[in-house]
Amino acid sequence: MPRVWVNESAAREIRRGALHVYAQNVEGVEASDGDWVEVLHGGETLAYGFFTKGSSIPVKIYSWGEDDPWEVISSRMEDLFVQKKRLYDESFRWVFAEGDLLPGLLVDVFKDVAALRINVKGLERFKEDIADLIVDHGVENVVERNDGKSRLKEGLPLRKGLLRGRKHKTVIQEGAVKFFVDVLKGQKTGFYLDQRENRIFSERFAGGRILDVFSYTGGFGIHMGALGGEVHFVELGEAAAELLKRNIELNNVSGKIFKGDAVDVMRKLLRRGERYDVVSLDPPALIKNRADVEKGKRMYFLLNRLAMRLLKPGGVLLSSSCSHFLTPKDFLGIIRGAAEKESKRIRLMGSLRGQAPDHSVYLPQPETLYLKFAPLWVEP
Ligand SMILES: C[S@@+](CC[C@H](N)C(=O)[O-])C[C@H]1O[C@@H](n2cnc3c(N)ncnc32)[C@H](O)[C@@H]1O
Repeated sequence: MPRVWVNESAAREIRRGALHVYAQNVEGVEASDGDWVEVLHGGETLAYGFFTKGSSIPVKIYSWGEDDPWEVISSRMEDLFVQKKRLYDESFRWVFAEGDLLPGLLVDVFKDVAALRINVKGLERFKEDIADLIVDHGVENVVERNDGKSRLKEGLPLRKGLLRGRKHKTVIQEGAVKFFVDVLKGQKTGFYLDQRENRIFSERFAGGRILDVFSYTGGFGIHMGALGGEVHFVELGEAAAELLKRNIELNNVSGKIFKGDAVDVMRKLLRRGERYDVVSLDPPALIKNRADVEKGKRMYFLLNRLAMRLLKPGGVLLSSSCSHFLTPKDFLGIIRGAAEKESKRIRLMGSLRGQAPDHSVYLPQPETLYLKFAPLWVEP
């Protein structure tokens, strides 16, 4: 079997459960790009994983015992299927990469259509086997969403298309509402399952005037609007706005779409004197790497200030961040700072919430905890 030797520091991390071996900790390589390798420190076998030549994380760990890669992947996927089915019946994240101890593998199930994304070189040759395993578990349609830029770092080509079955669109049920999902053309894997519990939580704020900023295909606004009230949606993406129209009709929501940049639209709404009972903010990850932290924090600060200004006295702010570089403490600090600047008193409803439970957090890989959702009362 091909082999990779690591230094003492990486050996310690692997024994603690880490799944990533950084390039500076690799001491020797007897392997080719994409190989399944035995990972050693001196004469001691530590683990097994895939090797990617030239990557800043050349070894991803998948097993500490079993040495057959397909046995590791398939038995883990079987276990995960049972676990995730205990959480959700119809639509769920079956495999959450590092969070579920399968680095670089994402599988989302949207009722009868699955999305598959592979971000590790060595995993790619198991693509067809994984698609068959998904079909064997009763999901007939499998869409490959291998179009994320992180594949380029692994030397993998970008592609998307249908791998199994005939359809790539479906309608899923979530709480009280339905969503039209296009797994092939939607963002990422088609739909943001990570916010599901928070969207359902938001249903209690139905009624009145609701502003859903960064709405994508309607997420929060559809949940609240379907139960009553008038929703203003703000979204930049053309394709997202098209799907949003369909979800508004599907759920009989009274809504209006403002296409454009969130900051520009929020400023325009302020000038027009529009005020809301609820504002939801769910921006894309504004901090994509460490260099972006300060710039990203300033944007979260600005967005939260504008949202607070747009609220009626006693209104509800639902503020999200999916940047794992922003800690929960710093996120709350930004919201607190925004409230101070706007002379508002804010109270968190209980606690900061996070990602849906099918998005497992694997503690030795802290970046698997990334979503933060703050539900707040905002008063003058
Ligand atoms: C995290 S997603 C929102 C998910 C949504 N809340 C849901 O529950 O499905 C962020 C959305 O913001 C949109 N977006 C990105 N930049 C934007 C901008 N400057 N102004 C408005 N929308 C933007 C993206 O197109 C994307 O649909």
